[in-house]
Amino acid sequence: MSGPLVLGIESSCDETGIGIVRGTELLANEVASSVEQHVRFGGVVPEVASRAHLEAMVPTLRRACATADVDLTEIDGIAVTAGPGLMGALVVGLAAAKALAVALDKPLYGVNHLAGHVAVDLLEHGPLPTPCVALLVSGGHTSLLEVDDIATSITELGATIDDAAGEAYDKVARLLGLPYPGGPHIDRAATGDPAAIAFPRGLTAPKDLVKHRFDFSFSGLKTAVARWVETRERDGEAIPVADVAASFQEAVCDVLTGKAIDACRATGAESLLIGGGVAANGRLRTLLAERASAAGIALRTPRPGLCTDNGAMIAVLGAEVIEAGGAPSALDIGADPSLPV
Ligand code: KG4
Ligand code: ZN
Repeated sequence: MSGPLVLGIESSCDETGIGIVRGTELLANEVASSVEQHVRFGGVVPEVASRAHLEAMVPTLRRACATADVDLTEIDGIAVTAGPGLMGALVVGLAAAKALAVALDKPLYGVNHLAGHVAVDLLEHGPLPTPCVALLVSGGHTSLLEVDDIATSITELGATIDDAAGEAYDKVARLLGLPYPGGPHIDRAATGDPAAIAFPRGLTAPKDLVKHRFDFSFSGLKTAVARWVETRERDGEAIPVADVAASFQEAVCDVLTGKAIDACRATGAESLLIGGGVAANGRLRTLLAERASAAGIALRTPRPGLCTDNGAMIAVLGAEVIEAGGAPSALDIGADPSLPV
């Protein structure tokens, strides 16, 4: 395989990721997560994440170079997440990338984190048929994207207007007394009846459809679960955790899959790609597989280690940008916490 040899740096949230690719060949993907340091706070604490990036950056870089058996002087370019993400966290990755670019005299490419979640699939499933729709669901983002060209043309069809899907999982898990991050715990606890409690779907009423056709909202659902649990507790009743978890999960997955399939129909996309930590969810995968198959849409799901934040996704996106003849970024490029795709 050929293509540019690219180092990718990811630090938008709580994962310090360094990836090395040659074109779409994965050579190294080292990730250091600070998730354990956030557990007692029930969510990512930006200051703690930034400090952890600073400590993990160089050791993670060293591990990636050793795994790939690559000397930094050989690389063709450095790609780095410029946004969206946590300001202080992004700044650490950008500073590292700029330092390397200057020291090695290599071009720097500031890239979009969400586009990286799409590009990572190239490492596993090869060229992306376009147009393609991507559903990105994590603790930080919930977006539906139309991808016409991975390096040059990605359009946001919709996004959450409040909580991200993973954030809703984490908050509901907390209500049910389950540990952080709550997604995997709810996934496992959801053994009850998904129709036991009719939780709201959010932004699906006809009046919402035109303006917010592909937008999401999960804060109403979270509040509905909180009210339901509080009422039972006040009445001294036991909380049927398996039923609450299954009913909540069904509401989230129903909306995510319904809109993703609708977005494919609206854009003529025959492939649907999923990414982000919530893409590991068992019910989401089952429902998507059922509905995609019924609609004749091919589902592309990168393996879990590539779905969550990592450096390889940034490296492969950088390689695509280089191949497309994209201009390097200026060395004074800043971090943009709400960088659009
Ligand atoms: O992509 P990720 O590792 O980090 C970012 O948020 O950027 O995603 C973490 C999120 C958390 O909210 C976590 O609860 C959720 O993904 N998650 C899941 C599952 N595994 C992780 N949510 C539902 N079901 C899962 N199996
Ligand atoms: Zn992400």
